[in-house]
Amino acid sequence: MSEFTYRTYQPDDLAVLQEITALTFGPVSIDRNMESILGPFGSGDWQNRKTAAIAEDCRIQPDGVIVVLDRKSRVVGYVTTRLNATSGIGWIPNLAVHPDCQGLGLGRALLEHAIEFLRMSGMQVAKIETLEQNPIGQGLYPSLGFQEVARQIHFAMRLDRVEDEVSE
Ligand SMILES: CC(C)(COP(=O)(O)OP(=O)(O)OC[C@H]1O[C@@H](n2cnc3c(N)ncnc32)[C@H](O)[C@@H]1OP(=O)(O)O)[C@@H](O)C(=O)NCCC(=O)NCCS
Repeated sequence: MSEFTYRTYQPDDLAVLQEITALTFGPVSIDRNMESILGPFGSGDWQNRKTAAIAEDCRIQPDGVIVVLDRKSRVVGYVTTRLNATSGIGWIPNLAVHPDCQGLGLGRALLEHAIEFLRMSGMQVAKIETLEQNPIGQGLYPSLGFQEVARQIHFAMRLDRVEDEVSE
């Protein structure tokens, strides 16, 4: 029997979900890329912004957040989803597994649970994004049946530093 179990999010889980987020998203965070390239900006850093995004996922669609627990009932990973009844598109905005538990199939299993939730909720299409710098996503998502439909390039520039402005 698997030592891991899956259940729907409960509000008490949020702090752990945010902890896992801050631990794992560094190499695959657009905000962190922006900080590395442009320097610090705003109040807080990429971890503050990413953990706030997870809180927003949990606020908007708490029944669509699935967590995985280890045998000691500790939350060690999560996936978040959003439903859009008008478009029929179910979105999977965020997924993470604690570094100590990666490589055990939990990421794949969380996505399977998320896809099933979206299907049972009447969605016709499931959508997920990954960055070019994330080799796991690029392998894992197609292996679950996702097809590539578009590529996007993110640009950013500072507005508060004169020396960074484009010269003639
Ligand atoms: C992405 C993530 C959730 C995967 O979790 P996980 O529990 O380690 O995933 P799994 O054990 O199910 O492995 C998924 C697949 O990735 C593959 N993989 C692992 N490391 C890899 C690497 N460096 N390059 C390519 N593929 C890799 C595994 O072989 C596995 O493939 P398989 O199922 O065909 O054997 C985890 O790495 C993580 O939290 N990353 C940081 C956050 C993130 O990137 N989130 C997704 C973007 S929203």
